[in-house]
Amino acid sequence: MKEIAVIGFGVVGGGVVSLVDENQERIAQTAGDAVHVKYILDLRDFPDSPYADRVIHDVDTIMNDPEIALVVETMGGVHPALEFSTAALKAGKHVITSNKELVAKHGAELMRLADENGVAYLYEASVGGGIPLIRSIRTSLATDRVDAINGILNGTTNYILTRMRDGGISFDEALAEAQELGYAEKDPSADIHGFDAQRKIMILAAVATGYIADENDVYAETMSKLTTADMDAAKRLGGAVRLIGSFKREADGVSVFVCPRIVPGKNPLAHVDDVYNAASVAAALTGDVMYYGRGAGRYPTAGAVISDVAAALNGSYRTESVRTWENSPAGFVKKFADSKNRMYVRVSGASVQEVMDAAHLVFGDVAAVPGTPAGVSEFVTSLMTERQLSEGLSSLPGKVESALRILD
Ligand code: NDP
Ligand code: HSE
Repeated sequence: MKEIAVIGFGVVGGGVVSLVDENQERIAQTAGDAVHVKYILDLRDFPDSPYADRVIHDVDTIMNDPEIALVVETMGGVHPALEFSTAALKAGKHVITSNKELVAKHGAELMRLADENGVAYLYEASVGGGIPLIRSIRTSLATDRVDAINGILNGTTNYILTRMRDGGISFDEALAEAQELGYAEKDPSADIHGFDAQRKIMILAAVATGYIADENDVYAETMSKLTTADMDAAKRLGGAVRLIGSFKREADGVSVFVCPRIVPGKNPLAHVDDVYNAASVAAALTGDVMYYGRGAGRYPTAGAVISDVAAALNGSYRTESVRTWENSPAGFVKKFADSKNRMYVRVSGASVQEVMDAAHLVFGDVAAVPGTPAGVSEFVTSLMTERQLSEGLSSLPGKVESALRILD
């Protein structure tokens, strides 16, 4: 019997405790031994929970108990999750986490510490909720080279975009629904302003390269400025707006960034709705591989945590690639201003003639957008650097209502 502890008895931690209870036989088969949750650490008591008698408030009870082989950290945030994880690893306990903020910011040091202490620090649930994405890259694609990843990596924002488009409800109503369903972060601005997806694409880029980027080098753009006019424009261009995290190896470095993009209909990512996440992974030998599944929610995420619990306890994590990361050297992530994109642009407050004349002058070749409504001008640029795009936008007449990159 392997005794474990869960730190943070919320949406995900609560799911982990009940899944361990309900799937004992299957987990024992995979983990190589029966698994039992001995302690649940949380700030509150849960008198109505069937697990009320396991709830504790002193983390040292866990750290000082030699019976505890593994700690599940599902409390979120950096502090004190970092201190708790560090203490557990130093005490020779595996640590499994769903906390992508901690993994993105301190993953390299925690993985190194895990290695030094002969235990695992695993984080499958930190990206893509229930999608078996990280382990797949670390095992099935381990002998290949991942060159690019484009992903819908935030369930809350994808849920909001889908509900606004299909349910005709407001941004605030859709966000309230996502919070009610347990998808959103405690502070949902991390979802909305792209920081959650930023952390996830940083993690995926690190799984692909072994280097974790500095978050200051990873451009992240909010989706809060999107309007129904953007959804309509995307539809007329034959696609849909999605918040996309992108990683790509290029000749002059890697590009890693997050922003809302118009995804053309021929790309499967345009058809990923609701809380679902998806990642399109381009590997050198294998070619394109597509992952799809529930990106958030109690049981999908808890299932991913438990797959890590099993991998740690049965020792199979030792054969996975990229077990530890390095902090990325300066210049590893190329400057966003040097990234090349095509952009959809909508301008008001100037005549179509004026806007299109200026657009041709500053962007060169631009393409018209079918069905442009009265009162605005719309065009799509050709591929150019972000520096060129932003200089061009600032020299257009009228008001730039929207500038959305297109996923090619
Ligand atoms: P919740 O807020 O539902 O759960 C966190 C729990 O941890 C709460 O009960 C909280 O108590 C408790 N907690 C906070 N601080 C402490 C502390 N110092 N000591 C002990 N317990 C503490 O969050 P989620 O379950 O939704 O998310 C947990 C982590 O998993 C986050 O990192 C999140 O980003 C990640 N994640 C979440 C997913 C989801 O679908 N919800 C999916 C994938 C990852 P209190 O409420 O009193 O603060
Ligand atoms: N808030 C996150 C999301 C949870 O909506 O995707 C899953 O990581």
